[in-house]
Amino acid sequence: MRLTTSNARGASFSYVTLTLLLWMHCCHIASIFGQESALILVENTEGGEEEEVRVDEDEGDLDAVQPTEDWQTLKPGQAVPAGSHVRLNLQTGQREVRLGEQQLKYWTQEHGEAEETQSSFSPDELKRAMKKIQEDMNPDSVAYKYRPLEELKRDMAQLELLVETDAQIMRRLLTQFNSSNSTTEQRLNILLELEYLVHQVDNAQTLCSLGGLQFMLEGLNSSDFRLQESSAFVLGSALASNPVVQVKAVESGALQMLLTTLATAQPFQVKKKVLFAVASLLRHFPYAQRHFLSHGGLQVLSELFRADGGGVLRTRIVTMLYDMISEKELISQAGLDLVLDASHEERVRQYSMVSLQEELLEKGWCSLVPQLLESTEHDYREKALRALLAMAPVCLEQYRSDSSLLGSLLSLRDQYQDMAQSEMIIGDENSYFAEIVELIDALEVKMK
Ligand SMILES: *[C@@H]1O[C@H](CO)[C@@H](O)[C@H](O)[C@H]1NC(C)=O
Ligand SMILES: *[C@@H]1O[C@H](CO)[C@@H](O)[C@H](O)[C@H]1NC(C)=O
Ligand SMILES: *[C@@H]1O[C@H](CO)[C@@H](O)[C@H](O)[C@H]1NC(C)=O
Repeated sequence: MRLTTSNARGASFSYVTLTLLLWMHCCHIASIFGQESALILVENTEGGEEEEVRVDEDEGDLDAVQPTEDWQTLKPGQAVPAGSHVRLNLQTGQREVRLGEQQLKYWTQEHGEAEETQSSFSPDELKRAMKKIQEDMNPDSVAYKYRPLEELKRDMAQLELLVETDAQIMRRLLTQFNSSNSTTEQRLNILLELEYLVHQVDNAQTLCSLGGLQFMLEGLNSSDFRLQESSAFVLGSALASNPVVQVKAVESGALQMLLTTLATAQPFQVKKKVLFAVASLLRHFPYAQRHFLSHGGLQVLSELFRADGGGVLRTRIVTMLYDMISEKELISQAGLDLVLDASHEERVRQYSMVSLQEELLEKGWCSLVPQLLESTEHDYREKALRALLAMAPVCLEQYRSDSSLLGSLLSLRDQYQDMAQSEMIIGDENSYFAEIVELIDALEVKMK
C-alpha cells in the first residue's frame, strides 16, 4: 500500500491515526477524503517495502463538518477539524466523527513532536508524521525495537477499531519466524517482540500452544550465537514464574537443550541468557531440579564457574544455588507451624527427592563458592556469604579446613566493620556494610 496525501489542510491527527490504522490493516480503501483531497490510501504491490508519502501542496476548498458529541457519518470529501475523533463503523463501513478528547497521544508522548495538540498539521508536518509512523512500523527500524506497537494499540483502542490481540500478534510473528524467507535480522526482531510479550503469563502459555517453544529450542541449537542468545532470552522470560510453561518446557526437552548450550556456547552473552533461562526453569520446580542434578547440571555449572573470571556468571550461579537451597528450606519449615493441605505434602515429597546439598558437597561447591569472596564487588561478596551460610549444614567441615576462606573472612570483617562505622558516623543506621558484617559473624559462629 502506498500513502498519498493531497491537501493536508484541516486534517486532524485522528486522520493520521486512522490512516495509519487502515494502512496497518491493509484495508483496501482507496480514499479517505474523496477523490481530490487529503489523505488517500493507494494500494501498492505486496511486501510493503516501498511505502512513501507524497504531499501535494495544492489546497482545494473543503466542505468541513462540525462534529458534535454524537457520532455522525462523514460524507466523502468532508474535512474534519483538528482534534476530532474519527472511527470506522465496522457495520456500515462508513467513517464517523464526533468531538474528540485525547488526540495526538502517540505523537506528543512518544515523539514529542507537536507542541500544540489542537492545531492542524501543515503538509510538511503531515509528511514527517507519516514517515515517522512508517518508520516505526518497519520491523528493521530502531524505533520498532522500542515497541511503539503498545502505543499504537492504545490509539487503536481509542478509535474503537479492531485491535489485533496479543495472541494474533504472536501467531503472526511465529508464522514470520517460521517462514523460510525471513532473514536472521528479522528473526532477531521477532524474538525481541516475543520476549516483550511473554512477560504476560497467558502470552507465554500462548507461545507454547502455538508451537513457539520448539522454535526457541531450535534457536538455542542454532550456529548463530545471536539467535541462541535471543531464544534463550525469550525462553527465560516465558518460564519466569510460569508453572504451565515450566512443565511444557521440560516435556519438550528444554532442560537438556539448555544444558548442552550452556556447556558448549562460547560467547559470554549467550551463557548469561542461557543461565537466566535455566534459573527460570528450575525456580520452584523440584521436578526440573531433580532432573537438572541427574543430567549433570552442577557439573556444567562448575565448569562455567571456574571459567568465569569477571564474576558476573559466578554470582548468578551462586545466587541460583542459594535460591534453590532456600526454597527447599522454606517448604520444609512451613510444615512445622501450619496445617497444610495435600499439595504441600506433595511439594515436600518432591523437594525431598532433590538431593541438592549432598550434590553440592560431592561436586566441590564447598570450596568453589568461597572463591567468589575474592571479588572486589560488595554485591558479589554478599551473595557469596549468603550462599555459604545456606550451604553450611553440609560444608562446615570443609569451611573449617579452608585456610583461604578463613583468611578472607578475617580481612573482610575488618574492612566492612570500618566501612560500617564510617556509615554510622554519617548517620546511616541500617547500613549495607553492617549487614555484611552480620553475615560474616553468623558464618563464623557456625564455624566455631
Ligand atoms: C518467499 O519469497 C518468494 C519470492 O520472493 C515468494 O514467492 C514466496 O511465496 C515466499 N515464501 C513464503 C513462505 O513467504
Ligand atoms: C513451520 O513451517 C512448516 C512448513 O514450512 C510447517 O509444516 C509447520 O507447521 C510450521 N510450524 C509452525 C509452528 O507454524
Ligand atoms: C541441533 O543441530 C544439529 C545440527 O545442526 C542437529 O543435528 C540436531 O538434531 C539438532 N538438535 C536438536 C535437538 O534439534
